[in-house]
Amino acid sequence: NEPAAGGEPAAGADDGVITLGFSQVGAESGWRAANTKSIQDTLTAENGFDLKFSDAQQKQENQIQAIRSYITQGVDVIAFSPVVETGWDAVLQEAKAAGIPVILTDRAVDAEDETLYESFIGSDFVKEGETAGQWVAENFDGEGLKVVELQGTTGSAPAIDRKEGFESAIEGSDVEIIDSQTGNFTRAEGKTVMEGFLNKHDDIDLVFAHNDDMGLGAIEAIEAAGLVPGKDIQIVTIDAVKDGMQALADGKINYIVECNPLLGPDLAEIAKAVIAGEEVEKRIVVKDEAFDQAAAKEALPTREY
Ligand code: AHR
Repeated sequence: NEPAAGGEPAAGADDGVITLGFSQVGAESGWRAANTKSIQDTLTAENGFDLKFSDAQQKQENQIQAIRSYITQGVDVIAFSPVVETGWDAVLQEAKAAGIPVILTDRAVDAEDETLYESFIGSDFVKEGETAGQWVAENFDGEGLKVVELQGTTGSAPAIDRKEGFESAIEGSDVEIIDSQTGNFTRAEGKTVMEGFLNKHDDIDLVFAHNDDMGLGAIEAIEAAGLVPGKDIQIVTIDAVKDGMQALADGKINYIVECNPLLGPDLAEIAKAVIAGEEVEKRIVVKDEAFDQAAAKEALPTREY
């Protein structure tokens, strides 16, 4: 490739450096902040990367625009965490036609043609929901437990899959979801939706929040209503980021299923392999743990994120 005007090598130039365009979902949660940091800390010049990073502010149209701009720039690899599952075929076809490999991180796309991307690195969200639901059923089946659900962003893979996993795990028990609404994975919306639930229902036993941030927002709403989170109303969340783990250790959350955000090292490895023309695994499942209050106290001092 010719150098770009100004003497700098053009994006995608054969200079040994991998130019990678990354389109991030947004900055909606503590999990997302840790994920962004992992990517930016790993895809560095010292590690052979020129990272181009953009934040889509939870909007699919911004992500599509960013991906198109990476195609125009002729980057070596495109990676992104799709805000929602559907609607990617056209832009992925454009990347394929331009000969630019695509790697998915964190969230999946619902595309029939699996040749549109090289690899998908991320957690098993159905399993995360199942683990949360199993804990609830194991501890409360037989008590007629009433659950409210704070869902993640509508149409996103983690919201769809965690709901499915949780529902399948409580099936056959007398645990009942009495209300369910999206809080868009943010603390502020989690709080607002929980306030609405508390106004509408006086028999809530447990909150299942699709991420820690919405659970933390729910804690604020529960406390403002004069109730004790973790006791009057139990809380189960997913992520296990620092603030969530602290609330778990403090007794305000009852159980957290981890979703590991440290995807930078796997992304770097797969991008290098793809550029080297090596076969890569189509699906790389990131391992997650789960924590009760005692386990959170033990894990907190050495927790990375
Ligand atoms: O896609 C992963 C999810 O997105 C995390 O659980 C949530 O916190 C984030 O916003």
